[in-house]
Amino acid sequence: MKIDILTIFPDMFTGPLTESLIGKARDKKILDIAIHDIRSFATDKHHSVDDKPFGGGPGMVMKVEPLYRALSSVGAMRKKNRPYVVYLSPQGRQLGHALATEIASRKHVVLVCGHYEGIDERAERWFDEEVSIGDYVLTGGELPAMVLIDVIARFIPGVVKERASVEQDSFYNGLLDYPHYTRPAVFKGMKVPPVLLSGNHAQMDVWRTEQSHERTRRRRPDLLKGIQQKKKRTKRRIK
Ligand code: ADE
Repeated sequence: MKIDILTIFPDMFTGPLTESLIGKARDKKILDIAIHDIRSFATDKHHSVDDKPFGGGPGMVMKVEPLYRALSSVGAMRKKNRPYVVYLSPQGRQLGHALATEIASRKHVVLVCGHYEGIDERAERWFDEEVSIGDYVLTGGELPAMVLIDVIARFIPGVVKERASVEQDSFYNGLLDYPHYTRPAVFKGMKVPPVLLSGNHAQMDVWRTEQSHERTRRRRPDLLKGIQQKKKRTKRRIK
């Protein structure tokens, strides 16, 4: 998968995109990530990327011309084989498991990070999707872009070594994850549930499924309701 990031703060990405699983996936060429400085596409003397809003009001608005040129440089203005362009914004569709898998299925994604009061509205026509990572406002789209990359990277074959680890995670089947334990079996009197030491895999699977349901019921009953409604809809369709 190829990801082009358009930002005015390219240095913010060092660290999250060079370490851990993402760094390894880039080394292995499973993930091809390029960071582009929108400022380098500004043609005026001061390389300005923002300006005062027409009509007045607080803050600054990101200019449309440097962004247009940055988008053109990554192929987003082509008619054929266009990349999928995502703008990170608090006004977007909220990121969840389903949206993440949808984006992860794309071959080439462009992430546009906004700043200030947002981007000149005329740029909206170039975005295929506007994505929010939650109902709060961050200082810019860089952290949300990193969150999105981290989430989608886990769905790309080869990024996480064991497929089962992704499939058993929270939200994959609509439920929260079950509890995990590792050695020692007893620490300061706290014991690991005996079933996990029994060697009986069928029993362990049952225990884990139960724990997953129980945890979801206690912490996120809304998720269970969602699953029940989905089941009802599928039943109705089959009838
Ligand atoms: N930019 C600022 N806040 C944001 C949010 N919550 N999600 C995505 N992009 C943003």
